[in-house]
Amino acid sequence: MANKQEQEHLWWHEGVIYQIYPRSFQDSDGDGIGDLKGIISRLDYLKWLGVTAIWVSPIYPSPMADFGYDISDYCGIHPMFGTMGDFDDLLQQVHTRDMKLILDLVPNHTSNEHPWFQESKSSRDNPKRDWYIWKDPAEDGSEPNNWLSVFGGSGWEWDENTQQYYYHAFLKEQPDLNWRNPEVQEAIFDVMRFWLDKGIDGFRVDVMWHMIKDDKFRDNPPNPDYKEHMSTYEKVVPAYSTDQPEVHDIVAKMRKVTNDYDARVLIGEIYLPIHRLVTYYGHDNTGVHLPFNFMLVSEDWDARKLSMKIDEYEGAIPPGGWPNWVIGNHDQPRISSRVGHSQSKVAGMLLLTLRGTPTMYYGDEIGMRDVPIPPEEVQDPQGLNMPDKDLSRDPERTPMQWDNSENAGFTEGKPWLRLPDNFRRVNVEVQRDDNFSMLTYYRRLIKLRQEEPALHIGDYAPVVSKDSLLSFIRKYEDRQFLIILNLTHKPCLFRAEHHTYKGKIVLATDPEREGMQIEKNISISGDEGIVVLLD
Ligand code: NOJ
Ligand code: MG
Repeated sequence: MANKQEQEHLWWHEGVIYQIYPRSFQDSDGDGIGDLKGIISRLDYLKWLGVTAIWVSPIYPSPMADFGYDISDYCGIHPMFGTMGDFDDLLQQVHTRDMKLILDLVPNHTSNEHPWFQESKSSRDNPKRDWYIWKDPAEDGSEPNNWLSVFGGSGWEWDENTQQYYYHAFLKEQPDLNWRNPEVQEAIFDVMRFWLDKGIDGFRVDVMWHMIKDDKFRDNPPNPDYKEHMSTYEKVVPAYSTDQPEVHDIVAKMRKVTNDYDARVLIGEIYLPIHRLVTYYGHDNTGVHLPFNFMLVSEDWDARKLSMKIDEYEGAIPPGGWPNWVIGNHDQPRISSRVGHSQSKVAGMLLLTLRGTPTMYYGDEIGMRDVPIPPEEVQDPQGLNMPDKDLSRDPERTPMQWDNSENAGFTEGKPWLRLPDNFRRVNVEVQRDDNFSMLTYYRRLIKLRQEEPALHIGDYAPVVSKDSLLSFIRKYEDRQFLIILNLTHKPCLFRAEHHTYKGKIVLATDPEREGMQIEKNISISGDEGIVVLLD
């Protein structure tokens, strides 16, 4: 059954996913924080842009220790974001526009203020004690093992009242659930059903590879490659605290819940090397539909290396599995800061022409960059906990830049994070009617991808050329596109070995190149990308 579904080419095979960080997309009530009504008011923009689905980061009740990734009620809406009525309205309005809505599911941990944890910590014999991971201290009274928190310090927090430690992979305000407990499993599956019954189109599952830990709680081995500038979490290799074999049983159960509904998608947030990542498709595709592939946010921006990685990824995907690509998110530096402004169109073309579902991050379509946040304004706990390491995620979470009015049209109040000084130049309104803008470029790329089966479901074949060029062919039936991307700033000549390509440039980072006929050698400018429709 699963296989058949995979091959039918569902919306999430063909479409483009757009991530909204709800705090920063559009404020409707002047509190300086984005909300659901704000998102609704911008749906026409997203439809115009041409994206298929929106994934919205957590909107649930939360004390906001980790900006919504610490959930205190899985089936509610944080009043700051609106009401359940607003949510129903959002869902309906998304569907009316023939788009899809994906929600964030955070099953690895709750907030410490979630009633489940409140019960669990109330006494050792509370029925929910085993819903979390409680351990006695080591013999000398110290932490049960050497596991570290991603956000700095130990992963264990002492509870004075019941004289045990609990485990938290992230903040101490985010205690990890014990996924070996069937009651926990059922409780989260019920949460999934609650939202799926409402009609949402799928979930992006937070830190999926963290969900099960070693049952013997063995120490993680030290990381021989650790360097001072790295997050303290990387001092040890999380060999026993993440990516355990049993996680796949859990994922398969989540998939089963999803399969009871029509055409929903299950996406896993998983930061692992390719050979480990692809195991999350599960045995016979009983895992997630899309294990997020973060190669474009983590690999060196080097054509040869990337092209080898793409081949490795293509080769590693199991039969029936569908590839995907992510260009940015709320945890990573923005693409245009990572590869630089001059390469950001090239990056967009790569994202939107590779084989597999693309996920883009709000604001990338107008070339938003990481915004420097003065130390006294830093809000992200990862930044605050390790202040010397430049790990704050605030810079990539700043308000969407809509127009050149005060606060870029994001809010009438004081934005929760500051805007960059250049927002009057870099915004949707300014770029909308400019044929040479990033926004026009992204919109045209998305349109081309959506219109051409070769680009959204066609085959992929690498083309070997110069070291500075990443080139490949996408093909569906007899329609073929050659994509050539120069990942450097220097011009060079594209010359494929043993083959002559003839065709017409249909889309280019510099629109002046479009319409040009190509024969044999092709001169490529620095920072240029072209899509050639082959004869
Ligand atoms: C991954 C989320 O994307 C990130 O923002 C969050 O801090 C951690 N998971 C913990 O939930
Ligand atoms: Mg608001």
